[in-house]
Amino acid sequence: MQTPRKASARAGSNIAFLKYWGNRDDSLNLPNNSSLSLTLDALQTVTSVEFSPNLPADEVIIDGQEASPAAYSRVTAHLDFLRSLAKTDFFARVGSRNNFPLGVGLAASASGFAALTVAATKALGLEIEKRRLTRLARRGSGSAARSILGGYVEWLAGSGDEDSYAREIFPKEHWELLDIIAIVSTSAKEISSQDGHRLAATSPFYPMRLQSLPQNLSKMKEAIERQDLETLGPLIENEALSMHSIMMTSKPPLLYWQPATLAVLREIPEWRKGGIEGYFTLDAGPNVHVLTLPQQANEIRSRLEKLPGVQQVLVAQPGEGAKIVAEHLF
Ligand code: DP6
Repeated sequence: MQTPRKASARAGSNIAFLKYWGNRDDSLNLPNNSSLSLTLDALQTVTSVEFSPNLPADEVIIDGQEASPAAYSRVTAHLDFLRSLAKTDFFARVGSRNNFPLGVGLAASASGFAALTVAATKALGLEIEKRRLTRLARRGSGSAARSILGGYVEWLAGSGDEDSYAREIFPKEHWELLDIIAIVSTSAKEISSQDGHRLAATSPFYPMRLQSLPQNLSKMKEAIERQDLETLGPLIENEALSMHSIMMTSKPPLLYWQPATLAVLREIPEWRKGGIEGYFTLDAGPNVHVLTLPQQANEIRSRLEKLPGVQQVLVAQPGEGAKIVAEHLF
């Protein structure tokens, strides 16, 4: 293994406009469909990794605490994969810090595994180009493939490991869409996305969903190219409801919504009638993301803050891709 052995990286989370839900290969995280997202600047993970011949096992600290057994085994499995590429058996010390609550559907694993992949490959002395980095991050968490890149990103379903990678379709400067996030719960979700992907195919509606996605994807890309929120917004809302209908009709069902989730979802179309243009989406969690333009952001933020059950509101701008940073966490 070549020096350096220690490296740190920062990555932003992302919000999917067209969702990844269901794999055709769970071990390689090969998805059933291509997906599309915007990388966010405000929700970030910084991760430091140091490989050492003196460690008896991997050590993983997340937000100042020892990782849970589930998080530990996910991180060490990813480290094992990256170690096999570098042909080393040194264990690693990993420290990771998020500036947003974990396990609430804010895709901490996207920014987390993107940052881990970039920091660990650097610390292992591997020189890896961007496209391959997205494929490596994909192995840790599917949505992490998209967080390797900034701006508007497409992750191609591909036909196998080689061609299931993420690519930037528009840079973050192309269009300043804002994501206003209404946090209605900060408790960890009961069913992880990882387990959820396995249930997708148990919904009788899943084949219909998959059939409709390629056309929706091209419509979304065209709307982003034209900076046309009036077209993009309804596509995004419909897509979130489509994914949640699969979750709700899986066996067993997955119901991520809280009462406050529905309260927010009902408000947004009402606000539009009054000229406040925001459109909702949700990931695998109860929190609601509202996509809007900068001139409406303050109004939407203050309206969300007043809704019962909304605990906190975050505002995120389009963000850049994962990158190496000079400051280490330890
Ligand atoms: C609903 O498998 O990437 O956010 O289990 O947290 O790693 P983790 O998530 P992942 O699934 C994300 C699913 C989604 C939709 C999306 O981001 O495309």
